Amino acid sequence: MPHNVFEQQPDLSSRGTLVYYLRLILHGWPDRYCIRILQNFVLSLKDEGIALINENDLSPIGVVNSVVEKLGKIADMQMMTVCNSRDCTAREFEGLFHEADPRLKLFNIHRTSGPAMIMEVRLSGS
Ligand SMILES: C[S@@+](CC[C@H](N)C(=O)[O-])C[C@H]1O[C@@H](n2cnc3c(N)ncnc32)[C@H](O)[C@@H]1O
Repeated sequence: MPHNVFEQQPDLSSRGTLVYYLRLILHGWPDRYCIRILQNFVLSLKDEGIALINENDLSPIGVVNSVVEKLGKIADMQMMTVCNSRDCTAREFEGLFHEADPRLKLFNIHRTSGPAMIMEVRLSGS
């Protein structure tokens, strides 16, 4: 099925609770494009809709174990050199969510034993 994150996403909410899952998408784009991508999903988030955003967690030094921390830093440098983009901390992602739409809130973070985290994002009040 053709799909383009730079177009508004289809509204499938009539089929029930809608979950968008974006895995390692945002870290491949400069911030201004991440904001456009997020806005395309926000416009289709309704009621109980959730966006699960799975990205590497660039936690501040000392928050995660040193191996995970190094993997995160290496990935961040790769993204910078290859895509002019970056990995982020959860707080930095929160800033991007806010810029995309102030109603877009980070409700929960599901961490893994590796560098990945899954951020649960919803429209506030929904
Ligand atoms: C880093 S890969 C992540 C792939 C997959 N989500 C994963 O976690 O293994 C980024 C993906 O975004 C896709 N992509 C690039 N531009 C896109 C666009 N405009 N719309 C939808 N997908 C796009 C690429 O084809 C690539 O598969």
